Amino acid sequence: MKKKVYAGIALALIAVVFVFAIGSFLRENWAANQPPGPIEGLVARWLRSLARQSQPDVKNPVPPTPENLEEGRTHYEKQCVFCHGTDGKGQTPDGIQFYPPVPSLVEPNAELTDGQIHFIVIHGIRYTAMPSFEKVLTPEEIWKVVLWVRRLAQAPPPEPSGASEAGPRSP
Ligand code: HEC
Repeated sequence: MKKKVYAGIALALIAVVFVFAIGSFLRENWAANQPPGPIEGLVARWLRSLARQSQPDVKNPVPPTPENLEEGRTHYEKQCVFCHGTDGKGQTPDGIQFYPPVPSLVEPNAELTDGQIHFIVIHGIRYTAMPSFEKVLTPEEIWKVVLWVRRLAQAPPPEPSGASEAGPRSP
C-alpha cells in the first residue's frame, strides 16, 4: 500500500515540474532579436560548452601554405561570412540578429583550438544558427577554413577580396 502512495507523490511532483517547465518556456519570447529568458540562455550556454568540449587537442594537419590559405578563404567567404562576417568578428548590432548571437572567431577570448573549430564546423551546434558543414565541405577543406580563421585573427587584417560583399550583413 505504501508503495502506491510514494508512486502517487512522485507522479504528482513530476507533473508539477513538467507544467512549470512548459509554462516558463511559453512565457519566453520567441523573437531572435531580443535576449531570451534565463532558461533558454542557460540551455544555449550549456550546448555551446558541450560543442567546445570535443577534440581540443587535434592539430591541423594541413600546412598554412599560400594556396591552402587562399582555398580556406574562398570556402570561408562562401559559407561563413553571411553570419560570422568577412573579418570574423561575428554579429554586429546593425546586422542580422540571432540568439544565441554569432560569436567572434578572432577575439582572443574565443580561445578555441584548431581541433575544436574543425569539430564544430563538421557537426554544427544544435538549436542555434550554427549549421553542420559535413555534407558541404570535406574534412580537408574544413582544415583549410580553420587556417583562414587563424589568419583572420592575426594583424594586419587581410585585404578584402571583394568577393563576399553581397549579403544582408552590414559591414
Ligand atoms: C547561418 C549562420 C552561420 C553560418 C553560415 C556559420 N555559422 Fe558558425 N556560428 C553561428 C552561430 C549563431 C554560432 C553560435 C552558436 C552558440 O552560441 O552555441 C556559431 C558558432 C561557431 C563557432 C563556435 C564559436 C565559439 O566561440 O564557441 C565556430 C568555430 C564557428 N561558428 C565557425 C564557423 C565557420 C568556420 C563557418 C563556415 C564554414 C560558420 N561558422 C558558418 C552561425 C553561423
